[in-house]
Amino acid sequence: HRILLLGPPGAGKGTQSKNLAEAYGLDHITTGDALRANKEMETEYGTPGEYMDAGELVPDPVVNEIVVTALEDADGFVLDGYPRNVEQAEYLSEQTALDTVVFLDVPEEELVERLTGRRVCSECGATYHVKFDPPEEEGACDECGGELVQREDDTEETVRERLRVYRENTEPVVEHYREEGTLVEVDGEGTPDEVFERLRDVVEG
Ligand code: AP5
Ligand code: ZN
Repeated sequence: HRILLLGPPGAGKGTQSKNLAEAYGLDHITTGDALRANKEMETEYGTPGEYMDAGELVPDPVVNEIVVTALEDADGFVLDGYPRNVEQAEYLSEQTALDTVVFLDVPEEELVERLTGRRVCSECGATYHVKFDPPEEEGACDECGGELVQREDDTEETVRERLRVYRENTEPVVEHYREEGTLVEVDGEGTPDEVFERLRDVVEG
């Protein structure tokens, strides 16, 4: 499978990409995680972290390079967080073909609640939510006991900016796949398990 998972910030792309990668033995290619691991890397455009903490897109050459390297090593994959603008979508189409393009649909008020309540493990990266998916012991990771922290870009102000950037840059990408006739829309509301069942149905068509 070569799956593209599209959706606004907080739609559950990370959560569901991990599920899909595990269920079908695919590589999880995520530009967000790759950039977070290299936030302080010096590039000719500055560091990725400068853009990310403000909710802006990291410049295309930096991101394209990450994706092309990951694609070289991947047989089957689920792509999460890329493409985020029309230029990236054009670049991707020159690199590989996709067999499933999914759009995870979640209303905006719910996105803000999901993102401002997200907590991540500072040790292993596991994701929680203070209300929808709390850890057993407050502030500690169930998997490794590590400290749970809020992502730098999950404050309400930066979340609003990320949603603005999404509408301006990424919605045209969603439109592009919709016009092409390849887009499958999946309801992203409900529990993570319910959403995953819907995705399975699409992938197994
Ligand atoms: P990235 O890491 O890709 O962030 P994002 O797209 O904003 O997506 P998120 O990780 O915030 O959300 P998600 O959809 O994965 O949701 P999750 O499953 O975690 O990008 C971060 C930054 O990196 C960008 O702003 C940009 O600067 C840069 N960047 C990345 N890619 C780039 C690119 N291609 N070009 C340029 N720059 C790039 O879920 C969210 C929360 O909701 C969690 O707490 C979770 O527990 C909870 N949750 C999940 N599912 C459910 C459910 N069904 N019900 C209730 N709660 C749920
Ligand atoms: Zn952990």
